[in-house]
Amino acid sequence: MGSPRSKVEIKGLEAKFYDQLLDIVTLGQYPRLLKRIFSLMDIKPGYSIIDLGSGTGRNACYMLKKAGRDARLVGLDINEEMIKKARKKCRDFPNAEFINMRIEETLPFRQEFDIAFISFVLHGFENFDKEKIVENVRKALKPGGKFYIFDYAEFDVDVAPFYVKFFIRKLECPLAEEFINLDLKEFLRKFEFSEFREWTFAGGIIRLLEAR
Ligand SMILES: C[S@@+](CC[C@H](N)C(=O)[O-])C[C@H]1O[C@@H](n2cnc3c(N)ncnc32)[C@H](O)[C@@H]1O
Repeated sequence: MGSPRSKVEIKGLEAKFYDQLLDIVTLGQYPRLLKRIFSLMDIKPGYSIIDLGSGTGRNACYMLKKAGRDARLVGLDINEEMIKKARKKCRDFPNAEFINMRIEETLPFRQEFDIAFISFVLHGFENFDKEKIVENVRKALKPGGKFYIFDYAEFDVDVAPFYVKFFIRKLECPLAEEFINLDLKEFLRKFEFSEFREWTFAGGIIRLLEAR
């Protein structure tokens, strides 16, 4: 069971129209943002990639286009509707598999991925579950593998534009603001991650963080 302070286990209509909703909320800018972040990520042909909370598979498709047919992609999600959508979206890639698995439970992967990717999922977990997720990633990555976190950046919500403040404080879950206030690099250092690089978007409210 997820935390009652989280909204990351999306259901119903939100799950059904998730991609469309994101495009509307970002006034059509989201696909461009995704193209940008996947161009920044170090995805090489043949890489093995794990996508935690893979949703509709939109991100997986972008990554598979870069990594190609010799790559391996494993997407994990707990929403069957999302998994179905992802399988359909990535049907041209027999090297992609989408599995119903809770990412905060102990995962069976050991040193098998070049890249771990988590997009707009980590902010929705209590810190003790974030720790379990990061530990899963640490074990799943090959030595030197890269961890990419695409999510809210660290910023001062008090001085953010009114619509950002409204979105974070009224529409998002309480855990989102805690995540925004968390020193994520410090958090990751406890799990031996280092060599951070980061890029921010949308006026500094969204970040792609790379860790090794
Ligand atoms: C906000 S959506 C983000 C989806 C996708 N990563 C993206 O950026 O488009 C959160 C996703 O995480 C999944 N999720 C939530 N809790 C999860 C958990 N404990 N284990 C695996 N997936 C989870 C949800 O089903 C949903 O698909």
